[in-house]
Amino acid sequence: MKALVYAVRPDEIDFFEQFSKELNLDIDLCSSNLTEDTVEQAKGYQTVIFLAECKVTGKVLESLKSFGINHIVSRSVGVDNVDWEKANELDIKIANVPAYSPNSVSEFVLTSTLVLLRNYHHYLDRVQNQDFTITGLVAKEIRNQVVAIIGVGKIGFETVKNFTGFGPKEILLYDPFEKEEVKKYGRYTSLEEIYKSSDIIVYHIPLLKDTVNIISKKNIDKMKKGVILINVSRGGIMNASDLLDGINEGKIAGAAVDVYDNELSYFRHDWREKNIPDTTLVKLLAHPQVIVTPHAAFYTDEAVSNMVSISLGNVKEFFDTGNSKNIVNKK
Ligand code: COI
Repeated sequence: MKALVYAVRPDEIDFFEQFSKELNLDIDLCSSNLTEDTVEQAKGYQTVIFLAECKVTGKVLESLKSFGINHIVSRSVGVDNVDWEKANELDIKIANVPAYSPNSVSEFVLTSTLVLLRNYHHYLDRVQNQDFTITGLVAKEIRNQVVAIIGVGKIGFETVKNFTGFGPKEILLYDPFEKEEVKKYGRYTSLEEIYKSSDIIVYHIPLLKDTVNIISKKNIDKMKKGVILINVSRGGIMNASDLLDGINEGKIAGAAVDVYDNELSYFRHDWREKNIPDTTLVKLLAHPQVIVTPHAAFYTDEAVSNMVSISLGNVKEFFDTGNSKNIVNKK
């Protein structure tokens, strides 16, 4: 029994060697993403491990099935890059890593929020040009802000706790599944109240049919003037043109964007000295009220190590039992 690991970054190699040895697993590593063009490489393996940037389409799944593969393992949390319907139809089990380090993403959210609130990016720009003035950069304090978290799963809960340390005016929460333990930190409410009352809105939601473009003109219009938006979940939850319009019209004071709908063409690649054809991305990158990061909120040593060890644990379980506690597409 052997697994092929796709989309391996150099910083993961030592972890794969260490944990595959500890679990006595036979694995091969390759740097290419799993796509319709690279799926042939999986022939002869009994499972594949991949990341969020791989496109696990219906065609990919059909090929994997034809190679005798009945289970696949993502080392990401989000598995919106897999055609679930097709996987169910082909009876292919999908496992993920449900929590590699909620702290990694949550701490990035706090960083992004503070950068925007404190105008930190503007100070860096000015100082790099030997401009040591502070004019126009008066900041806001979190204790005077109403903070909202949309999506209070494992990562969202960590963000709630982290904001609590700054003593915001109030923490508003939205999640269809309310949890008692979260209620001592914040108040669950409707999206309508969140839009109306929040100064900072953080999105920690998966990309689902009903979360596509949740950041859209329709909802931005309902938001409080001067709101700050933090999107570290998926590019597909945001209409980037509407976001830019909201900023240019003065409704949104700032946005931190760690994900982008069309990110696969850009993020993880070096585009220096090349023209980016995506004009919306160019506008986001150039906008003084937007900070763009390349889907890096997860990227800590702890998270990388756990993504490797937990995904290999899933493979081990699949090989030993045909099952895994981390299957996400239970029918
Ligand atoms: C996830 O785990 O769902 C992420 O978004 C991080 C991934 C790109 C490694």
